[in-house]
Amino acid sequence: MSRVIKFDHPLIKHKLTFIRDINTGSKEFRELVTEVSMLMAFEVTRNMKLEKREIETPMQVMESEVLAGKKVGLIPILRAGLGMVEGMLQIIPSARVGHIGLYRDPDTLKPVEYYCKLPQGIENRELIVLDPMLATGGSAMAALEFLKEKGANPEMIKFVCLIASRDGLNAVQEAHPDVDIYVAAIDEILNEDAYIVPGLGDAGDRLYGTK
Ligand code: PRP
Ligand code: URA
Repeated sequence: MSRVIKFDHPLIKHKLTFIRDINTGSKEFRELVTEVSMLMAFEVTRNMKLEKREIETPMQVMESEVLAGKKVGLIPILRAGLGMVEGMLQIIPSARVGHIGLYRDPDTLKPVEYYCKLPQGIENRELIVLDPMLATGGSAMAALEFLKEKGANPEMIKFVCLIASRDGLNAVQEAHPDVDIYVAAIDEILNEDAYIVPGLGDAGDRLYGTK
């Protein structure tokens, strides 16, 4: 079974409160999502592999450590996942960014794919899939399935979100038992329109001021 890693850093909890708050406008919402994504990046990259490299300090030659392997791939699910890219890039500036465009059909609530551009060689990259919301889990499952079809190594994929519904989380874990899921909060209710309650509303609309 995949692991669910719940961020427990007080700064993430504090900032998430203001992200949820209806009185937080788009500018502050975007800034807070960026800040939380930076904090998340530390935890998500905790187990990245290192290799030895010989360098010369002003004092002597030494062996030190650098990240091993290909550059990380950040994969935001459009649109709302874009809000998490900047913060992640501030911590992992060399990451490649691939985009998967999905939206939930308002009638069927099923994800519809409309865009995809991935970095070369995804089969050998650590991939961090970004989307603030995991509601029914349909979009997350579709994105993960898509990446696997394109050759991504399931053990090198992580899914990172701000808020997940309990049921959506269970569904993604069941469908993708090989992918670890990182989440700042788990909310119990999914309403009849498949919105997370209390949640934060529509993440894309709050990021970009649309309605
Ligand atoms: C939102 C959100 C997720 C999806 C979650 O995107 O960003 O991608 O819904 O819902 P699910 O778990 O039930 O699939 P939305 O479809 O609203 O598109 P947007 O990001 O373009 O606003
Ligand atoms: N998408 C969102 O942006 N918010 C939700 O609560 C559910 C899906």
